Amino acid sequence: MGVFFPYRNPRDAYKDDKSVNFLELVEKDMKVLVATEKPFAKEAVDGIRKIVEEAGYTLALLEKYADKAELLAAVADVDALIIRSDKVTAEVVEAAKNLKIVVRAGAGYDNVDCAACSAKGIVVMNTPGQNSNAVAELAIAMMIFMARNQFTPGTGSEIKGKTLGIHAYGNVGRLVGKAGKAMGMEVYAFDPFISDAKVFEADGVIKVDSEEELYKKSQYLSLHIPATEQTKKSIGYDLLMSMPKGATLVNTARKEVIDEVGLAKALEERSDLKYITDIAADSQAELSEKFGKRVFGTAKKMGAETAEANINAGLAAASQIVDFFKTGNKKFQVNK
Ligand code: 3PG
Repeated sequence: MGVFFPYRNPRDAYKDDKSVNFLELVEKDMKVLVATEKPFAKEAVDGIRKIVEEAGYTLALLEKYADKAELLAAVADVDALIIRSDKVTAEVVEAAKNLKIVVRAGAGYDNVDCAACSAKGIVVMNTPGQNSNAVAELAIAMMIFMARNQFTPGTGSEIKGKTLGIHAYGNVGRLVGKAGKAMGMEVYAFDPFISDAKVFEADGVIKVDSEEELYKKSQYLSLHIPATEQTKKSIGYDLLMSMPKGATLVNTARKEVIDEVGLAKALEERSDLKYITDIAADSQAELSEKFGKRVFGTAKKMGAETAEANINAGLAAASQIVDFFKTGNKKFQVNK
């Protein structure tokens, strides 16, 4: 990435005019758009507005938009953009002529075309950790929901004493591990980017050295990998078939990491396997029809759907934007 918003800086137009207060000029001009197809809680929007307006900037809101054209129109004159899972494609970047920064209020930024942003000198950030607790709580809730027959009559089971595998030991994975331990589970974790066993040992979690080993051990497997070229469709038939009897795969990460054909085949061949997710599979309706209570997908992605997570992530996004404009701070930049 280049220097602090290169050539887009309005200061450049006046750089030889000593009578201009450049900082004031920049600050006055800034328009921040919150574009959320799935809106933040009202308290989060109020908090974002306060931060943006106190900085002397203008806030615009585009919520529950139904199609891309609305987003393309709304971004036309904005300097900064706050989004959730909203798609910032090359087309959006092209339409946003003044855009200098995009902050994904959340963790995963697979919905942002980072290359297109980089090509225009636009900084992309996320707000790591801010909504993690909400997602972790949902993952644990999903395990119990499946252990108790989706809260329908009949004998269920307990998660205490069962093995829990954490696939990717980031902010959410760690919290799920901690909660799992508190519930009496035996917790294992695999993360291809963490080789130091002490990271796991410090949390009382057992480090395993491969995906294969993790799935073999896990009666409950909680997925926390991002959707990347390497991980897309990487969780499928072989890993599922290797899981212990009665195992449940919990996906609060991304639907794209699942090989849905492999998932369906494994569910077909093993009547003891279960799958639950808050990011419904493309084939969710067929899966539900075929496998009944062994699968469940929420109607809308809901891991980060708590007021607390919205407030934490939304306010962090707004603060990061103000800090970026005022000081050039790019601590959470992801497109480097
Ligand atoms: C994230 O990556 O932070 C989560 O998936 C939450 O996504 P959401 O903001 O669309 O709910």
